[in-house]
Amino acid sequence: MKKIKKICCIGAGYVGGPTMAVIAKNCPEIDVTVVDINQKRIDLWNHNNLDLLPVYEPGLREIVKETRGGNLFFTTEVDKAIDEAEMIFISVNTPTKTYGKGKGQAADLKFIELCARNIAKVAKTDKIVVEKSTLPVRTAEAVKSILDNTGKGVKFEILSNPEFLAEGTAVDDLLNADRVLIGGDETKSGQEAKDTLSWIYEHWLPKERILQTNVWSSELSKLVANAFLAQRVSSINSISALCEKTDANVAEVSKAIGFDSRIGSKFLNSSVGFGGSCFQKDILNLVYIAKSYGLNEVANYWEQVIIMNDYQKRRFADNIISTLYNTVSDKKICFYGWAFKKDTNDTRESAAIYVADALLEEKAQIVVYDPKVSEETIYADLDYLGTRSPEENRKLLKVINDPMEACNDAHAIAIMTEWDEFKNYDWIAIFELMLKPAFVFDGRRILTKEKMNAIGFKYYKIGQS
Ligand code: NAD
Ligand code: UDX
Repeated sequence: MKKIKKICCIGAGYVGGPTMAVIAKNCPEIDVTVVDINQKRIDLWNHNNLDLLPVYEPGLREIVKETRGGNLFFTTEVDKAIDEAEMIFISVNTPTKTYGKGKGQAADLKFIELCARNIAKVAKTDKIVVEKSTLPVRTAEAVKSILDNTGKGVKFEILSNPEFLAEGTAVDDLLNADRVLIGGDETKSGQEAKDTLSWIYEHWLPKERILQTNVWSSELSKLVANAFLAQRVSSINSISALCEKTDANVAEVSKAIGFDSRIGSKFLNSSVGFGGSCFQKDILNLVYIAKSYGLNEVANYWEQVIIMNDYQKRRFADNIISTLYNTVSDKKICFYGWAFKKDTNDTRESAAIYVADALLEEKAQIVVYDPKVSEETIYADLDYLGTRSPEENRKLLKVINDPMEACNDAHAIAIMTEWDEFKNYDWIAIFELMLKPAFVFDGRRILTKEKMNAIGFKYYKIGQS
């Protein structure tokens, strides 16, 4: 097994940045260079002010502070880093296709292909190429085909090493991973490559947690893991609707079923709907793959997880409208939170975007406060939907950096993200500032109904009548 000294990671995003920072911290003898074509992102990774790192994750700034400039580097010099590295991670985005065949479902692999072509063009020495991005099963075949046809006699081993970190807990998830999955060819050189990658993780993880499989199992396992997790959220969210009609309490139901060790207690928190860059994209991809093999029942089964999630977001918005006497036109609705979950500045597919869009269609005036998400991102999210002009979005929705100012004179507050600080607010003072009756719609179930009612709020909690 080869002990490598130089790693390159293509893609300095939510996965590439934290993952490489953790490798650099735990493998001081390896130089880790993270490259990206986005100059602004690289500049922020290199910024002296660590509060400006492009990815907010608890614990990340400390690791970057410790390793950056020592054995962790961020640069746009992609070719140089590829040339020098013995192992190259591909960690670029693989969004849902927005055009052509498979539009709206299949993964767009153009960035992956560009990386493979770039590696093929630049490489002069043998390399291990690691798929870190989430990819459809059998993608490694395409990557291999591109790399094997360089005509330069360079040998490539392709490994699949999907990432299981969740945002908001990325550093902890990386440092204490439940498992690391490494898929590779079952040839002698394939085994050597798998062992080399395993050796990197063994710097900080017990060997028993590092699983080796064939490439296809590894690629598929990542999609399946996300599908199973999202399915739990959609399952409990479907029950939340039933609880609201029957006086059952979804938290009590979650607890009661979660005590069954076969079911387990995690990932059973009912919410306004799951968001994030992965769940929807990966399930759509799974659906597309199943359909492409003619497995329509399999495809329909998984698609239902997304349909239920869309229903949950729409249901939340509809409840706000009907509760506010069937009209939100010109009413001020304050959103606490825009991120798709707490402890991240990522907003991709956040439920807040879709709920806001539905309320803006009804001419509501929305004011958003989120502790980590910028105004620029919030407007970009809305503009991307294309429902109305950017001017109209800016007219109807304002972003305010002070939670008390945001709720001043509001008809209602909608809690869209479970940021801890929301729980500790002075809700009596908030009540005083709002118009009466003062409504709170808790899409994250973070407040207590009895306490909120005692203050005087009309309080609605997902999954509780
Ligand atoms: P991201 O959008 O945050 O980052 C991807 C980066 O790749 C961008 O900065 C982009 O500029 C860069 N890039 C694209 N093409 C490039 C090229 N040809 N050369 C150099 N740089 C290039 O994406 P992400 O959230 O880090 O996700 C990356 C992959 O990891 C995806 O496949 C995703 O599904 C998977 N994943 C994400 C998470 C997560 O929590 N975000 C978790 C597990 C797996
Ligand atoms: C997910 C997977 O958990 C991770 O393993 C994978 O690598 C990337 O995708 P992430 O999207 O970052 O991670 O966060 P996650 O904690 O899974 O939450 C996803 C969404 O589901 C969030 O909007 C969250 O609020 C929601 N959720 C999660 C619930 O509504 N209820 C739950 O019980 C759990």
